[in-house]
Amino acid sequence: MTKIPAIFQGEFNTLDQVRISPLSRAYTFSDSIYEVIPYFLGKPLCFKEHMDRMGKSAHQMDLNVDFECVIQEINQLADTLADKDGYVYYQISRGVDLVRSHFYQDDLDVERFGYAMPISFPSSAISAMLCDDDRWGKCNIKSTSLLGNVLAMNKARSLGCQEVVMHKDGFMTEAGSSNVFYFDSNGAVRTSAISENILPGITRAILISALKETPYCVKEGNCSIADLNDSSCIFLTSSTKGILPLTNLIGTDYKLQENYQGYLDIVELFNSAMQLHLEVSE
Ligand code: PDD
Repeated sequence: MTKIPAIFQGEFNTLDQVRISPLSRAYTFSDSIYEVIPYFLGKPLCFKEHMDRMGKSAHQMDLNVDFECVIQEINQLADTLADKDGYVYYQISRGVDLVRSHFYQDDLDVERFGYAMPISFPSSAISAMLCDDDRWGKCNIKSTSLLGNVLAMNKARSLGCQEVVMHKDGFMTEAGSSNVFYFDSNGAVRTSAISENILPGITRAILISALKETPYCVKEGNCSIADLNDSSCIFLTSSTKGILPLTNLIGTDYKLQENYQGYLDIVELFNSAMQLHLEVSE
């Protein structure tokens, strides 16, 4: 496998050479936050928005982070992507304990880690499974505490799926690693409103803003999972998926209506918005 460029505590290296302490709180308590920033031909999509969200995550976790240093390290990783497509993963943990303790020391130095991954982004439809959302109550923080997502997604994989659509008491929240949109039976585009139960996705925001003042203006609110049975198209958004439709959703009657015009229109609007973002990106 080709060497993946990585950075750990300011030291540039390859991913296979990074050594962390088992007492990193990322390891013992998943006491850490992260971002995944996509790059297209070497240009970041919505870099500032990713940094702003990381700032909010850090604030909610009471993490004291030097963002100048973070940005410089992410840029250093991104340089290795040159004119390629890919992403930078960047994680900040609270630091390394002397002994494992739920109570953290106040003077810990945060632990910074990241790597740059060249990939080509997927474009074909995937299948998903509907399941209960039994995650913790602060999914708006982009923390690495993702056990609920991991268990649900791997259960889905055993049924041949690549994602899950989660719900709380019959109301859709989000997917395992993406936000969810769908056309309802009246042809309106819907998605769950921002709350502590979902991650405020950057791709979600790009799409919502691209569809404003078009016939596909998104209705954000409560989304009953009953709606999903007769949707023509359910689709996901994320930094690594872009916008991707679901072929089917196990646990519902949903089946993708191939070449659904509304979805084709939305993809076009989304792609134009993305190009505009990339044109102003540095
Ligand atoms: N996941 N919801 C969850 C739970 C996510 O993990 C993600 C992103 C999103 C979409 O957010 P954005 O559009 O900002 O990427 C929504 C990343 C890609 C990951 O964990 O790999």
